[in-house]
Amino acid sequence: MSAEFILALDQGTTSTRAIVFDHAGRARATAQQEFPQHFPRAGWVEHDPRDLWETTRRVALAAVAEANLTAADLAAVGLTNQRETTLLWDRRTGEPVAPAIVWQDRRTADFCARLAARGLGPLFRKRTGLVLDPYFSGTKLRWLLDHVPGARRRANRGELAFGTVDTWLLWQLTGGRVHATEVSNASRTLLLNLRTGAWDDELLGLLRIPREVLPEVRATSEVLGEISALPALRGVPVAGMAGDQQAALFGQACFRPGMAKNTYGTGCFLLQHTGTQPIASRHQLLTTIAWKLGPQAPLEYALEGSVFIGGAVVQWLRDGLGLIARSSDIESLAARAVDNGGVYVVPAFAGLGAPHWDPAARGAILGLTRGTTAAHLARAAIESIAYQSADLLGAMQADSGRKLRELRVDGGATVNDALLQFQSDLLRVPVIRPQVTETTALGAAYLAGLAVGFWRDRSQLAQRWARQRTFTPQAPRGAMARLQVDWRRAVERAKAWA
Ligand code: G3P
Repeated sequence: MSAEFILALDQGTTSTRAIVFDHAGRARATAQQEFPQHFPRAGWVEHDPRDLWETTRRVALAAVAEANLTAADLAAVGLTNQRETTLLWDRRTGEPVAPAIVWQDRRTADFCARLAARGLGPLFRKRTGLVLDPYFSGTKLRWLLDHVPGARRRANRGELAFGTVDTWLLWQLTGGRVHATEVSNASRTLLLNLRTGAWDDELLGLLRIPREVLPEVRATSEVLGEISALPALRGVPVAGMAGDQQAALFGQACFRPGMAKNTYGTGCFLLQHTGTQPIASRHQLLTTIAWKLGPQAPLEYALEGSVFIGGAVVQWLRDGLGLIARSSDIESLAARAVDNGGVYVVPAFAGLGAPHWDPAARGAILGLTRGTTAAHLARAAIESIAYQSADLLGAMQADSGRKLRELRVDGGATVNDALLQFQSDLLRVPVIRPQVTETTALGAAYLAGLAVGFWRDRSQLAQRWARQRTFTPQAPRGAMARLQVDWRRAVERAKAWA
């Protein structure tokens, strides 16, 4: 009997998931595990690299066991991951030399500012499509090399390996045999030339990153290695690997230029496929590699707007303020207020991403009065997710020169109907929730499945995409525009605080 399933592994910022998909793209089994977040100093965010691997190992085995499968039932494994998070480990022992520096970590803000003061912003933007912000891996890697005792010396001798989370997990899955990344993850490092898809020597020199630490750059969809570390999955090829946002774009079947998706996870990431030519942003968005579907295939690109805190604002209401017991309680609490009562929550807890790029911005609540209730706060928090995404959309339309016809959405917070309705009201375009909202994992499964012939081509995958519900603009345009004006005033107040 031939292998009938694909296992997708999705290593995210707060949890790791494994989903077994069948040929119809239906989830047959799911396993998920959260892991600890570490905040050793203000603005710092770390993960224990062992947690990332350990939870991946466990959920992989759990999902396969739940579906009652063996290695022979799996055609391939697809891997997707939180992007930019930076790891450095010993090539011989596999031991990390330091905690992973998470994408949200702001410790390199001063260093980025110094690079910008030297006038290097335009060069980095032109070569990498990115801005000089601590978000990206390059300055985090530089920090590790400068601050971990002996790291630079050992790196120069070729003893250390750098990787984003894809690379770390691939290394672990293959028992240390493969040290590789792929273009979508590599395009988030500030080290990759966007046009050639190769590491850029001039940028490496500017950031003082020795080539010896870097992984090989591969395609997003190709056989990268075989699993050897998990006996139950031994021999299964890892055949697709992508950053989680690019995987979600793929899972949403946004294959044609102009198609876009917004994922409401920890943050919000709006990506629009732009074809085989990178489009330079004139409105503070990022140009990024979407994928490369095979070693000989062309690079495909996307424009991206990254919002650092999206769904995480709900978590903060739950864990930080204790305003709700479960995340899902937010919808009913917010529904108790007829409007936001003039309250705006700007969740700039980790600075502001696109289109502001202000690492020193901090969270703010504005418009409080004696009549403000918890319901207003809940409503303002939900609205903040939609406002931030709307701010990106205008920039994206101006950059791409295309008016968006619809927006496909996915991620945990898309269960919230009120959020999606408000989003459509703000954007004035249909917002579409697909039947499968596990789009990130599905995209990773598709990428792996294409590489091993499990699926034929993109048109076959595009046919599988199906809508569950469409939200169309209902509220009057003028009223929405007025809300947006006040939102933007609130954002200005939150800037340059830290
Ligand atoms: O760029 C960061 C992004 O990849 C994180 O995604 O889903 O873990 O919040 P998520």
